[in-house]
Amino acid sequence: MTDTAKLQVDGKSVELPIIVGSEGERAIDVSKLRAETGYITLDQGYGNTGSCKSDITFIDGEKGILRYRGYPIEELAEKSSFIETAYLLIWGELPTQEQLQSFSDLLTGHQMLHEGIRRHFDFFPPKSPPMAVLSSVLNALSCFHPQLLEITDDNFFQEAVARIMAKVRTIAAFSHRHALGYNITYPHPDKKYSANFLHMMFSDPYNDYDPDPVIVRALDTILLLHADHEQNCSTSTVRMVGSSEANLFASVAAGVSALWGPLHGGANVAVVDMLDSMLDEGLSVKDFVGQIKDKKNGIRLMGFGHRVYKNFDPRAKIIKSICNDMLAKLSIDDPMLSMAEELEAAALEDDYFVSRKLYPNVDFYSGVILRAIGIPKEMFTVMFAIGRMPGWIAQWYEESKFTKISRPRQVYTGATERGYVPMSDR
Ligand code: ACO
Repeated sequence: MTDTAKLQVDGKSVELPIIVGSEGERAIDVSKLRAETGYITLDQGYGNTGSCKSDITFIDGEKGILRYRGYPIEELAEKSSFIETAYLLIWGELPTQEQLQSFSDLLTGHQMLHEGIRRHFDFFPPKSPPMAVLSSVLNALSCFHPQLLEITDDNFFQEAVARIMAKVRTIAAFSHRHALGYNITYPHPDKKYSANFLHMMFSDPYNDYDPDPVIVRALDTILLLHADHEQNCSTSTVRMVGSSEANLFASVAAGVSALWGPLHGGANVAVVDMLDSMLDEGLSVKDFVGQIKDKKNGIRLMGFGHRVYKNFDPRAKIIKSICNDMLAKLSIDDPMLSMAEELEAAALEDDYFVSRKLYPNVDFYSGVILRAIGIPKEMFTVMFAIGRMPGWIAQWYEESKFTKISRPRQVYTGATERGYVPMSDR
């Protein structure tokens, strides 16, 4: 294969370098194109644009492959924990027992919130969207850790990581309890990451919540499966914000905002809403699929389709099996699961979905599990944000090594120059 691409434009020929990734992905480097020809590339939605070179996560959307730092997601989901995987994503290698223990101790040391931060919750109205609360409070953390606004070496980075990873879970649980008008449950020093989150969500002063280990493992695996997914909308946002040298707190807060939308992290809520209304209205799978296929209705099958996967999302397969396993072990019979399975089977046999390569994505079954765990729908996207935090952090750090601000160009299509019209003439 060649190592340059030739482009002919305006009778001029330019050679553009070809960059090859470690898994054989090939890209045409257009960074000098404008300087040499006056042209830019246009790719609205970035479906065909690489924004960076990255060592963190590999996806082959055609084959349904996802690997973090080279390790297949299936192996990590089976053998690792969320915190071990977070370490892997952020520092590039699986930790030794000692490294894992010290990371875990660091998180325990930083899981409490400053009283000033805790009081923020009192001023959010009771029904505040938890994603808004999470984004605001993460941003506000920068006021309480001014020494970490500029990260000058790996030790500072580690301090910032520990605070964000530990506190995001505390903030999320506090926002849930505040929304319900409950007292706040403080983190427990002896509980591990996911068990501690469930404790802060569900323990009351008079009643310690003691979850079945199946639930704790399911939650931990869901967080792990969400931990990174290369240059998606929220991660690209975090990198974009970070490229201006904005601090880590501000950058991940922006990531939370990007994740909120229903075409991204908000899809897990949209799936449950969709299944709920089908059950409420007694709508059959056949009729609903018919409604989706009729484009004038503007309805999408939420939890289906993906910009990169044109095959099964490997995370969806794992989540479906955790879902079946957990519900069976806990003897939960949820009509929503049967409805989801029926809908999935119908879509996978229907030419509309097959021809467009639309398969279930990570969100299709995650809402059903979260519901079974007892996590309210309003918190689903927050759970995604907790899971995605190590990925955002790792990607931000990688971006910080590349010292150029991200600044795309545009093709201007508005009015050409015109004179100011006085108010009396309009
Ligand atoms: N239901 C019905 N039709 C769909 C769906 C869907 N879920 N997804 C895509 N299509 C159709 C589109 O209408 C379009 O049809 P056309 O060619 O006749 O116009 C075709 O498939 C291609 O769709 P695009 O919108 O171009 O695909 P894109 O890659 O831009 O979108 C996305 C990907 C946003 C995920 C889309 O599939 C979607 O909206 N899915 C539902 C929402 C969802 O589940 N989001 C979560 C994604 S995973 C994540 O963020 C964690």
